[in-house]
Amino acid sequence: MSKLIVLSNRISMPSGKASAGGLAVAVQDALNDSNGIWLGWNGQQITDSEAPEFEQAYSQGIDYITCPLTHQQYAQYYCGFANKVLWPAMHAREDLIEYDAQEYSTYQKVNRLFAEKLKQLAQPEDLIWVHDYHFFSVARYCRELGMQNKIGFFLHIPFASLNIWRKIPVARELIQDLSQYDVIGLQTQIDQNACMQTCLSLLEAQKIHRDSISYKKRQILIKSYPIGVQPEIIQKQAQKDAPSPCVFNFEDIPRQKTIIGVDRIDYSKGLLERFNAFATFLETNPEYHGLVRHLQVATPSRTDIAAYQRLYQRFKTKLELINEEFAHEDWRPVDCCYDPVQHNHLMHIYRHSDICWISSLRDGMNLVAKEYIAAQNPENPGVLILSKYAGAAEQMTQALIVDPQDRAAMIDTLKMALEMSKAERINRYQQLIEGLSTSDLTHWRNDFLDDLEKTPTLLMKSQRLLQDNYQSIYQVL
Ligand code: ADP
Ligand code: G6P
Repeated sequence: MSKLIVLSNRISMPSGKASAGGLAVAVQDALNDSNGIWLGWNGQQITDSEAPEFEQAYSQGIDYITCPLTHQQYAQYYCGFANKVLWPAMHAREDLIEYDAQEYSTYQKVNRLFAEKLKQLAQPEDLIWVHDYHFFSVARYCRELGMQNKIGFFLHIPFASLNIWRKIPVARELIQDLSQYDVIGLQTQIDQNACMQTCLSLLEAQKIHRDSISYKKRQILIKSYPIGVQPEIIQKQAQKDAPSPCVFNFEDIPRQKTIIGVDRIDYSKGLLERFNAFATFLETNPEYHGLVRHLQVATPSRTDIAAYQRLYQRFKTKLELINEEFAHEDWRPVDCCYDPVQHNHLMHIYRHSDICWISSLRDGMNLVAKEYIAAQNPENPGVLILSKYAGAAEQMTQALIVDPQDRAAMIDTLKMALEMSKAERINRYQQLIEGLSTSDLTHWRNDFLDDLEKTPTLLMKSQRLLQDNYQSIYQVL
């Protein structure tokens, strides 16, 4: 019987604390009880003279096979090419791209290292599912090692436009590597179109169907599979009693409304744009003082990278300034938690918040938007304010959709959310939750894996190509 082998850089360690980051949360839920293997980085670093060794652990039906990265791999592959070239490029921050040929070479070596491990682990009939921008090139090395397995790739973040790809010196090489996957999965229709256009243009591949291309005698499916959550499980978690102690105080203060934000401290999340809008809102609407507070779970992220360090400082200062300027007596307009929060606990926080405010400037999907809706009390649900630049906006059209760069629009939308009638909240919620239920996490996983399963094996592909060639020779004769 074939098994599923998943590869991602970040994994939720079986022993681990809560993970911040959509990939680890979603893949963990999608893999539970699958009897599959989850291969990736264990989050540790070792010295450059040590050779990374793989370790194995087992929990809830998943075999975890993980290894540390050397300091050099961490600095050049993870902090370097992955997060100083690919992440800013995919999030339309050309200004932050810092390309270095040595870092790219280490990125390739780490991709090869994991491909070699896949070769050891996989039987020919096993399905391999590779996740995210850390591993654009893994399938190329698998093929070089002679593997004919069906290998799928899912990108959790946006796919850059062709114009931005052209600014990456090794773009063509990377897209060529990407074409060694059988299925390339994207979060949205917009990403699917961008990926299709980039492949057609940089590889001079041919489009053979709405969502497939042919390149060097191979057929590749390029399709959107919007990631989902598990609404029923989240609903149950959110209904549980308050964890003790709760990160935030949810004592009922009459007429006071709570806004929640949950983000890694990342420049893609529009945190400064949101808190600037909130400060202007407080300045221009004094009648709301004491009646609204903004809670934020903000997880420090990629703290060895200068752009993230700068943002962390600016963000902290911004929150302090807001409290200094507006707090009075027992009211603090902003409260922030910088620690990881257990998943159950987070669902509880969502349920007790009147508004969830998502301000991403670019975002693959934004799972927080979906988790927030799934956690609501159906009889008295909260309101979702959702950036038009989050992938979730393509599906969750009944949220209050806003441009986070338009401060006036952000403030108007916040007021609309604060004043929204219960009837309208329920109406919007019902449509949103229905969407989440029909397009949940199981649906995402099955859709992707069914398509991967259906792709012809490489052997069949070459036989078919041979037949096609014979046919064309006969036609010519
Ligand atoms: P990204 O993947 O860019 O971080 P998403 O919104 O798609 O953004 O996913 C974030 C995920 O991480 C969500 O599942 C959220 O619940 C989780 N998360 C974010 N911050 C924390 C935290 N401090 N503790 C635990 N989980 C967190
Ligand atoms: C996003 C990316 C993931 C990544 C996560 C957290 O969700 O799509 O690949 O794991 O952010 O970032 P980190 O760098 O801490 O893994």
